[in-house]
Amino acid sequence: MNETLQAFMEGNIPEIERELTNQLAKSDIPAILHESLTYSVEAGGKRIRPLLVLAVLQDLQADSADALRVAASVELIHTYSLIHDDLPCMDDDDFRRGKPTNHKKFGEDIATLAGDAMQALAFGALSELKETSAEAAIELVGLLAKASGAQGMVKGQVLDMKGEQQLLPLKELEEVHIHKTGALLSFCVDAGAVLAQATDEQRKYLSEYSRNIGLAFQIQDDILDVTATTEELGKPANSDTSSEKSTYPSLLGLDGARKQLKDRHEQAIDALRKINLEQSILHLLADFIIERKK
Ligand code: IPE
Ligand code: IPE
Ligand code: MG
Ligand code: MG
Ligand code: MG
Repeated sequence: MNETLQAFMEGNIPEIERELTNQLAKSDIPAILHESLTYSVEAGGKRIRPLLVLAVLQDLQADSADALRVAASVELIHTYSLIHDDLPCMDDDDFRRGKPTNHKKFGEDIATLAGDAMQALAFGALSELKETSAEAAIELVGLLAKASGAQGMVKGQVLDMKGEQQLLPLKELEEVHIHKTGALLSFCVDAGAVLAQATDEQRKYLSEYSRNIGLAFQIQDDILDVTATTEELGKPANSDTSSEKSTYPSLLGLDGARKQLKDRHEQAIDALRKINLEQSILHLLADFIIERKK
């Protein structure tokens, strides 16, 4: 991995994980629920979403005492989405982040409720910002609600479920991916821009960047589903094939999917160039997203 990116990750991931653990340290949570929440949150994961929030701030040479809290809030939403995504009524997967899925360990009832609780914890975290103006904090709440709910990630998951057992046309598949995965990744970049008080021009091109890396992220996820092993991924390989999902490789073949991945990466970098961020952590994260092996 690129050395600058590696140092960025190694410097920030422990702090992100400390903040996540902090967010779970609340009184009066039933023991079994606390165990289930901790199990999925502390199982690891790449922490790409929180890293994106922090990368925007670093690249725009801005600082915010609330950055880690906002970063943790989106990771909580993401982790909840994974717990629900794995349920038998959804993708029905038994393995996640290198461990049995939450419902395999705690049962479907507790897993469903842990996802629900995590979503509320995420919004609760946004109510506890220290130095962000009330106006900016409300903007963040609105952005996260839109990105995670009926117009964002949940919308994408609905389209994904409805797309099983049929091959969606490319435009519709793009819609699925932009919502189920892209929306939360876009939130991360938007949130970083809000905290950094970015200019309208910066926000415009950062959004173009995030739309493209969001799509690229899910294209690579689809590619890895058919090219990597369960051991490498820490989640079941060929899950999409078993559930007859529409994916980039199933629609375009592996070469076609890889071409789309490369195009999206190029468009993301073009957007960064427009705001003089060609040399940036965001550029390195875009490289990581398309080169990652898990
Ligand atoms: C997996 O996300 C689900 C998708 C949206 C593709 P990640 O690949 O970021 O999973 P973790 O957080 O590293 O486990
Ligand atoms: C995930 O898509 C989208 C979510 C909102 C979690 P996938 O179903 O492809 O994610 P994995 O492959 O199970 O991580
Ligand atoms: Mg899924
Ligand atoms: Mg899945
Ligand atoms: Mg997948």
